Amino acid sequence: MTGRCLDLLRCSAIASMLAGVAFGSVPGPELDVSWAGASLDVESAWIPLAPVGLKVHVGYMTIVNRAATDKHVLGADSPDYERVELHRSTIKDGVTSMEAVEEVRVPPHGRVEFAPTGLHFMLLGPKRPQALGARVPIVLLLSSGEKVDVSAIVRRRDDPAQGAHSHHWHICATCHSLDGISAMARFPKLAGQRAAYIEKQVRDFRDGRRNNDGGQMEASASDIADADLARTAAYFASLPPPPPDGTLQTNGPEWRRGAALYQEGDEAAGIPPCNRCHDDATSGQPQGPYLSSQHASYLAKQLRDWRTGIRTNSGDMPKIAAKLSDQDIDALATFLASYPRVHANGTAAQ
Ligand code: HEC
Ligand code: HEC
Repeated sequence: MTGRCLDLLRCSAIASMLAGVAFGSVPGPELDVSWAGASLDVESAWIPLAPVGLKVHVGYMTIVNRAATDKHVLGADSPDYERVELHRSTIKDGVTSMEAVEEVRVPPHGRVEFAPTGLHFMLLGPKRPQALGARVPIVLLLSSGEKVDVSAIVRRRDDPAQGAHSHHWHICATCHSLDGISAMARFPKLAGQRAAYIEKQVRDFRDGRRNNDGGQMEASASDIADADLARTAAYFASLPPPPPDGTLQTNGPEWRRGAALYQEGDEAAGIPPCNRCHDDATSGQPQGPYLSSQHASYLAKQLRDWRTGIRTNSGDMPKIAAKLSDQDIDALATFLASYPRVHANGTAAQ
């Protein structure tokens, strides 16, 4: 090929553009001339290895426009998938939403990144099982009629060879927030939580021992390698813990009932004090997760999920939750969400 054709990716892109625009056959030496007008490059195209059986994959890449005019990507195709769509995920008020995108403009001499938590290609209906290291052909369709051949590599999200495009926790942050203090109550706050507890929960989701997440944790949990999970858990654990929920009314009858249950339990009802194992537990008892300053409705959901048997990944909690009435659960959740995260001896939990 010619001197301009620096790597395989670009060569095939050129060949395809030419095929799409004018030539039906393998391009000859006139290649350079046509290239000058149609210089769209694709860098680092990749597809994260997805959990087996998942029918929707994603593709990421950086599209670089070396021309002096706009380029518009209208869509894409791949022989390996039934359909390819352009999507954008956005986070607003802690909620992730996804929308289809009609076209993506690549400005003159500019670049557009398709990356986790932004623009991405949705690859729907895989026609063959994914294989680590395999090359997947994707064809970008431009408004000019040009086609750009892309060869995307299937790799793990945390492949260090890829360089630190983003840390793994950026993916978690779409729901749990980068500061670990999620805005939406259905996403638990992870900031300052015990690292070992975070790791255990992600493994439990991954291995099917915890599945009360409505399917939201499934993909992230299956995706993460152990070393990355340790780093991600350490990251969230190292963040300043969340402040208590100041909107809740404290010291009312419900709140006081919650505080009493938490600190003393209810012997007659067979409910042990929660702080024997949680938050300001001081003894050698098993260290439960921090509950204080967590979202009230998240805590209540967990207790109800244990009571009904939807959440099963604990030896102690199902038995304890079974003894709690709805009022107990609401009282505990209200108390805990408004309870600052400090140990009994007054030192900050971190
Ligand atoms: C699409 C949204 C979403 C993403 C992305 C996500 N999670 Fe979650 N996560 C959830 C939801 C929802 C729950 C709560 C499920 C429930 O109600 O029990 C949860 C629960 C958890 C829990 C349990 C917390 C507790 O207090 O028990 C941990 C730990 C966790 N996620 C860690 C992670 C990590 C680490 C990542 C990134 C690798 C991640 N999550 C990515 C939605 C998400
Ligand atoms: C004997 C120790 C023990 C006692 C007593 C105990 N817990 Fe727990 N609790 C645990 C452990 C351990 C876990 C973590 C389970 C797991 O690994 O998923 C847990 C988890 C929880 C969670 C889930 C937190 C999250 O972030 O998802 C809630 C909520 C909870 N406990 C509430 C309570 C309440 C309320 C009480 C008192 C009525 C209580 N616990 C008493 C040991 C205990």
